[in-house]
Amino acid sequence: MIQSDPKIPSPKLGEPFLLTPGPLTTSYAVKQAMLRDWGSWDDDFRAMTRDMRTRLLALLGEGGDAYDCVPMQGSGSFSVEAMLASFIPRESKTLVLANGAYGQRSAQTLEYLGRDHLVLDKGDYLPPRGSEVAEILANDPAITHVVAIHCETSSGILNPVEEISEAVYAAGRKLLIDSMSAFGAIELKPLEIRYEAMVSSANKCIEGVPGFGFIIARKDELEVAKGNSHSLSLDVHAQWAHMEKTGQWRFTPPTHVVAAFLEALRAHEAEGGVAGRGARYAKNRDVMVAGMRELGFETLLQNRWLSPIIVTFFCPADEKFVFSRFYDLMKDKGFIIYPGKLTVVDSFRVGCIGQMDEQVMRQVVAAAKETLAEMGVASAAPPALALKERAKLAA
Ligand SMILES: Cc1ncc(COP(=O)(O)O)c(C=O)c1O
Repeated sequence: MIQSDPKIPSPKLGEPFLLTPGPLTTSYAVKQAMLRDWGSWDDDFRAMTRDMRTRLLALLGEGGDAYDCVPMQGSGSFSVEAMLASFIPRESKTLVLANGAYGQRSAQTLEYLGRDHLVLDKGDYLPPRGSEVAEILANDPAITHVVAIHCETSSGILNPVEEISEAVYAAGRKLLIDSMSAFGAIELKPLEIRYEAMVSSANKCIEGVPGFGFIIARKDELEVAKGNSHSLSLDVHAQWAHMEKTGQWRFTPPTHVVAAFLEALRAHEAEGGVAGRGARYAKNRDVMVAGMRELGFETLLQNRWLSPIIVTFFCPADEKFVFSRFYDLMKDKGFIIYPGKLTVVDSFRVGCIGQMDEQVMRQVVAAAKETLAEMGVASAAPPALALKERAKLAA
């Protein structure tokens, strides 16, 4: 069979594809954009920062002019902490909607910050529903803010942020969203879903390299955020005010990472923006999940909850299946996968984001098939316990 040329070439230096939710496989053009140096105070770099902020805001679509974008040095967690500390006043109470590691991390961050909070803990992956949020808010008038995770990357579930937002604003409270792994591939349009602020980072769906995150917040929230933050370096209001006044970051910016990110944003636009990027990732997921199911693997989640970001599979029950060996053999074939994060049953994850297309996903499935044969695993079917766990979601 003659195969058409892949639309996306393999990594030029021969490194494995990263089937992980960031850092992820980036294009050669993105890496190449880091080859020159920039003066952080210079007009050229200031123009780059301005361009980046404008392009990110444009991804919101209509209604985006009520928001501004504030980049922040550090990994994604630094930006989450910056957002929580800057927009949640010290005298307040926050409801954290947790169904995995990143919801738990937001709760832990509030603990460090000494901000009063309550956690709706749905375990490893069950989605927090709008009706549950409405009930908690009705019973606790002290709650002022709600924190939701858009795609909970630890299981791959796409949380129902629309119904959560409706419940939050119907009760007159404010919503903050951790859209780290979703923004850029899944719409977060202010005209369709209300929120005060959201956060994401350079090395996720825009396909840049790690080094900074960004907070997109309503301008009126930014204006009143002065004095909330416990931290000098993570103060979103101060970073925003300084950037508005001088065009500069307050402290040393990751210049090369910003240059790479601008290249990534141009490619994102050329691909058709959020819709185009989301469509490629959805295709990646569909091809990969169908192929893996054909091999006998089962997903943790039913199709309705599967994000186009990352997918959790149960480890096969066959005792010859050992994840560390599966991982090594997949890596030998050019694919780095990800361990699972479920606490009840063994699992692993395969990411759909980054410079990959459906042809790559077919190769991933072929590599998994070959690896099972090498390991002598006769069936990829999960243990009964895993299926029992999954039935909870259907209930
Ligand atoms: C939803 C979510 N929140 C927060 C983070 C933390 O980001 P980082 O690991 O860059 O600190 C991640 C990382 O993958 C994430 O997926």
